[in-house]
Amino acid sequence: MIELPRIIGHRGAAKHAPENTLAGIKAAAAQGATWVEVDVKLTSDRIPILMHDDLVDRTTNGNGPVAEKALADVKQLDAGRWFGAAFIGEQVPTLAEALDLVWRLGMRINLEIKPCPGRAEETAGVALTLARSLWPEGAPPPLVSSFDFAALEMARTVAPDWPIGYLIDRRRPDWAEQADRVRAATIHVNARREDEASIKAYRATGRPVLAYTVNSLPAAREVLSWSVAGVFTDTPQTLAPLMAGG
Ligand code: G3P
Ligand code: MG
Repeated sequence: MIELPRIIGHRGAAKHAPENTLAGIKAAAAQGATWVEVDVKLTSDRIPILMHDDLVDRTTNGNGPVAEKALADVKQLDAGRWFGAAFIGEQVPTLAEALDLVWRLGMRINLEIKPCPGRAEETAGVALTLARSLWPEGAPPPLVSSFDFAALEMARTVAPDWPIGYLIDRRRPDWAEQADRVRAATIHVNARREDEASIKAYRATGRPVLAYTVNSLPAAREVLSWSVAGVFTDTPQTLAPLMAGG
């Protein structure tokens, strides 16, 4: 069974550094997180990058759809200025750059495949083919998750031996069947939509559950008391007492 942490830095450490940047991954590490979660999309020239939204508007100084920008255009954008002066000049990282940093920091990573509309299979296929070519063989692999079932099916094909996290926001009636079909190792749920009973139902499938996004210690303690294995957080340092098992 996959070894899971209690704390996963969400989009790096999104409260402390611009999300989905190398600075964010470093901030998570500096705060003691051993795992980070990032969102992966493709540029127009099919290069996997870290970005949450379909548009670059919110998290860079540019505008327009990610899917219409080549990597060279994306690399011109400032992905730190919107967050704070200390991060001016921060770039949108490629997946390759992020994996290299995570490896050098001795961290583990959850790659959330976050396809732009119509690009689910392409995004999972290209991103995971690249990730497999870069991630050292024999090292504990990334955990691959997505809200998009077609992306998960492609992940299962391209990276058959990498663990899959089945991501849920609003639960579908056939969630258990879908999780079985992609042989999901974990179930990732929205902490705000769940309770002790629903977590029990997920756990009854034999899978550990991870919950997003939990930013306070009391809230984290509550979901962990429901037998959630770990939480995604924008602020690892706030949940530091849990890293030591407290
Ligand atoms: O992967 C957990 C969480 O990141 C899912 O939601 O919107 O923050 O990517 P979102
Ligand atoms: Mg995410």
